[in-house]
Amino acid sequence: MFHDIPAAVEQRMRWLGERDRRDRADGTPHLERLRQIPPETGQFLALLAASAPRGRVVEVGTSAGYSTLWLALACRARGDRVRTFEVLPEKLDLARETFRLAGVDEWVELRGADARAELADLSDIAFCFLDAEKDAYGDLYELAVPRLVPGGLLVADNLLSHAAALAPFRDRALADARVDALVVPLGKGELVCRKCGA
Ligand SMILES: C[S@@+](CC[C@H](N)C(=O)[O-])C[C@H]1O[C@@H](n2cnc3c(N)ncnc32)[C@H](O)[C@@H]1O
Repeated sequence: MFHDIPAAVEQRMRWLGERDRRDRADGTPHLERLRQIPPETGQFLALLAASAPRGRVVEVGTSAGYSTLWLALACRARGDRVRTFEVLPEKLDLARETFRLAGVDEWVELRGADARAELADLSDIAFCFLDAEKDAYGDLYELAVPRLVPGGLLVADNLLSHAAALAPFRDRALADARVDALVVPLGKGELVCRKCGA
């Protein structure tokens, strides 16, 4: 998976990385920034998604598609597609450009929608990545967990970078008997939950 990343994917990842760094340095307003995961988190997501059981791969919070590119690599290995949700039109345009230039349309389905309106229609989720606004995590988690297949994985970003704001969410997940969960101190802090029953 990591040994044969297509050149077009690497090139777009590099471009997005530079744009994200510039956004953080030059005071670009919060909602306009790409707010991407770091590369090590992308690799972690790809490893987990590639190893998840059979079922759907879902992402909430596409931005310009950086994390989606890592999930697309996992989907290429799985023979699958990632369905990724984004609400902001400017980000959707950037993401479309990312997937076109990187040549990953075969492994990505981009949905211009609030995931809270569409997750209820999905079933058999094998892997779900949450990287949206933090006040929506609770609702998104409650929509996703019942739809995970046994052994399915849910990963949520920013558990350490937004530790105080996400503390109630973290405590709820760690005490949730439907999943086994822990916070991995990688990147901005990843909550990893595995659905019980397999
Ligand atoms: C932190 S950024 C995502 C970064 C991206 N995962 C990456 O690493 O490249 C969060 C994105 O989630 C989008 N978003 C927030 N709430 C959402 C929702 N309920 N449904 C879909 N997208 C949402 C925002 O517009 C924003 O672009």
